Amino acid sequence: MFTKQSLVTLLGGLSLALAQTSSSEYPSSAEISAAKATVQPYSPVSNVKGLAFNRFVNIWLENTDFDVAAGNENLAVLAKKGLLLNNFWAVTHPSEPNYCASAGGDTFGMDNDDFHQIPANVSTIADLFDTKNIAWGEYQEALPYPGYQGYRYPESGANDYVRKHNPLILFDSVTQDALRLRQIKNFTSFYDDLEHHRLPQYMFITPNMTNDGHDTDITVSGAWTWNFLTELLENDYFTKDTLIMLTFDETDTYEIGNNVFTFLLGGAVPEDLRGTEDDTFYSHYSVIASLSANWGLPSLGRWDCGANLFSWLAEKTGYVNYDVDTSNLYMNQTHWGPLSDDDYSEYYAGWPVPTTEASCSAGNGILSAVKQTYKGLTATFNYTTPFPYDSRSGNNVGVKYSRTLKNGKVESGVSQ
Ligand SMILES: *[C@@H]1O[C@H](CO)[C@@H](O)[C@H](O)[C@H]1NC(C)=O
Ligand SMILES: *[C@@H]1O[C@H](CO)[C@@H](O)[C@H](O)[C@H]1NC(C)=O
Ligand SMILES: *[C@@H]1O[C@H](CO)[C@@H](O)[C@H](O)[C@H]1NC(C)=O
Ligand SMILES: *[C@@H]1O[C@H](CO)[C@@H](O)[C@H](O)[C@H]1NC(C)=O
Ligand SMILES: *[C@@H]1O[C@H](CO)[C@@H](O)[C@H](O)[C@H]1NC(C)=O
Repeated sequence: MFTKQSLVTLLGGLSLALAQTSSSEYPSSAEISAAKATVQPYSPVSNVKGLAFNRFVNIWLENTDFDVAAGNENLAVLAKKGLLLNNFWAVTHPSEPNYCASAGGDTFGMDNDDFHQIPANVSTIADLFDTKNIAWGEYQEALPYPGYQGYRYPESGANDYVRKHNPLILFDSVTQDALRLRQIKNFTSFYDDLEHHRLPQYMFITPNMTNDGHDTDITVSGAWTWNFLTELLENDYFTKDTLIMLTFDETDTYEIGNNVFTFLLGGAVPEDLRGTEDDTFYSHYSVIASLSANWGLPSLGRWDCGANLFSWLAEKTGYVNYDVDTSNLYMNQTHWGPLSDDDYSEYYAGWPVPTTEASCSAGNGILSAVKQTYKGLTATFNYTTPFPYDSRSGNNVGVKYSRTLKNGKVESGVSQ
């Protein structure tokens, strides 16, 4: 027999479950209001000490060439307070595959901004964090309710929130889990979590299409960044042992190397590196690899596996990063795969198989779920290289890379 109280709780639970199940591209306004009324944000906290930082804040702006961003006064001043990564690369064009890469370690051939749902047997950084109960979250400006899965919001009119800039929502392993969905929240939740000291240890921050420069320009995105960060940098709770990364999804010009203006800020940037520049080759995949190295997490076995680590973190782990000769490198399109529209990459139905064997740059091997799912299958690409390439399409081939190990041994190669 239900008491009145438990019946109310049960009904509340049911409507919450129903409200969250809309995974359609354009949910009806009735579905949206029902979800708005019932779905609560979820803000787990954790305090797992890392080798170089205890919190990572990943902030992405849009579509700007390196020189244009470097010429923005607001960004230039902020970069000087931290460490400028002047050889940091986006992995392809257009937007969505870059955001996808930041969570899944691959583009899966995506060459478009379509409505994608990636099968649940593809692991993400959320699975890496969960191995050590490291709390993670996303803050997406103007997301109408936690875990909204629609293509955009509002569904018409000027662009505000867009799904293509929301990394984890693309993955069924996240959307099939009601609790994980509720960790994808909006800016109202960001300021709530900040105030109540319940920010996660990893967060991805996406300003709306005005503030991130997509529908505007670097003057607007630079001013937004200044306003957003200057206040936060004064907040001890926010900055203590925190590494903030400001980067761009991609360059605006497709025909040039995809080197994007990127800097690190916050309490975790070593004093002696502040105001300096780092010319180590990095990509969006280096962030996943660095998170793994920092917290002792495994790799996804995809392009994060061979990616370089943030230089001072690499020194702490003993890993030697590769030098990459970028004179022939573009990283402006991707390899074949199931999410291709045949525009800049080739459609192929099979999902790329990750490596299940390598120790990877972070040194912790591959996530056990990845090993179980893909056991005995041959990796589709050479995921141990420091940048993505594919011999079949000729994407990023002919690029030299080398490193000198601590014992003096030189390792070098050419992607082919
Ligand atoms: C992963 O899931 C997809 C979609 O269900 C399926 O096509 C594929 O065969 C699965 N991969 C493996 C290795 O099980
Ligand atoms: C943010 O999400 C909350 C639910 O968590 C919702 O009530 C609110 O309307 C949203 N705010 C904005 C500005 O979209
Ligand atoms: C983007 O967000 C800002 C607040 O940060 C708001 O003023 C602006 O109207 C939003 N842009 C659109 C097109 O909704
Ligand atoms: C990538 O850059 C090369 C060299 O400029 C150019 O030929 C190619 O069309 C570019 N790819 C895309 C998708 O724009
Ligand atoms: C894959 O990359 C590794 C590391 O860069 C290299 O040593 C190896 O020769 C490459 N393998 C193939 C098949 O190209």
